[in-house]
Amino acid sequence: MKEYQKTYLLNNGVEIPKIGFGTWQIKPGDEAYQSVALALKNGYLHIDTAAAYGNEASVGQAIKDSGIPRENLFVTTKLPAEVKDYDLAKKTFLKSLELLDMDYVDLYLIHAPWPWGEMGKDCREGNVAVYKAMEEFYRDGKIKAIGVSNFSPEDMQNILDHCEVVPAVNQIGYFIGLDQSKTIDFCNQHDIFVVAYSPLGIGYLLSNPEIKTIAEKYSVSSAQICLRYLLQKGVAALPKSTHENRIQQNTLLDFEIAQDDMMFLDTIKGDPRRWS
Ligand code: A2P
Repeated sequence: MKEYQKTYLLNNGVEIPKIGFGTWQIKPGDEAYQSVALALKNGYLHIDTAAAYGNEASVGQAIKDSGIPRENLFVTTKLPAEVKDYDLAKKTFLKSLELLDMDYVDLYLIHAPWPWGEMGKDCREGNVAVYKAMEEFYRDGKIKAIGVSNFSPEDMQNILDHCEVVPAVNQIGYFIGLDQSKTIDFCNQHDIFVVAYSPLGIGYLLSNPEIKTIAEKYSVSSAQICLRYLLQKGVAALPKSTHENRIQQNTLLDFEIAQDDMMFLDTIKGDPRRWS
């Protein structure tokens, strides 16, 4: 089995494939359908979507049409960050299942601790309320693992203090240069697995000259270095692309970055993402 299809074990025994296909910013309809179909054709076993991406129906259709048995795939979706109410969380999850046209999802996450328009707002009560709704679906088997996304240590501690099921995952933005050590240390202490979104810094890392130098040394692309770096850090990663050559390239990760080169990559600092 290739490295990208191998799995990590979550704290409840569920296996998560190391590389997932990210679908953030992939437009619903033909674009999402075609890119997920290409990912599945190229052997991806893990697909990441979210209600907020608006593309769950296209993602679900592509999965269905692939003919791959549902149980061979790992599908993640997310509760919109704005939903902080128990009843609405239940309704919203069932709507996602309906759009995906699935009986269950493998992983369901609270998309963020606060609505995107009110970053930093104290939503502790609301996060507990929606997580409790998720715990019920988890116990019913409609969700195989539950977790959070974009949660700080304080946000995770709130869930640990008031809920029963320890989150299986915290999905965070994580890539070469971005210091996520506080969040990752907390996750490691509590057996919460880290999944990295934007593993290529939404593409901006690919023009970094230091990463290019390392890529040349291993005769791979900068994207492959960014992804392999994360796998060697022990996290799963969710690269996104709408081009087949890149979708395929992002699976070629059966090489090893030497320890001194990992240390060199660790010296790169900063967040190159531009949000214009
Ligand atoms: P595109 O979708 O046009 O192929 P991230 O996964 O960090 O969010 O980065 C996604 C961005 O990186 C997208 O703009 C995507 O472009 C680009 N990208 C993904 N894989 C590669 C690759 N192997 N080589 C170059 N660019 C890539």
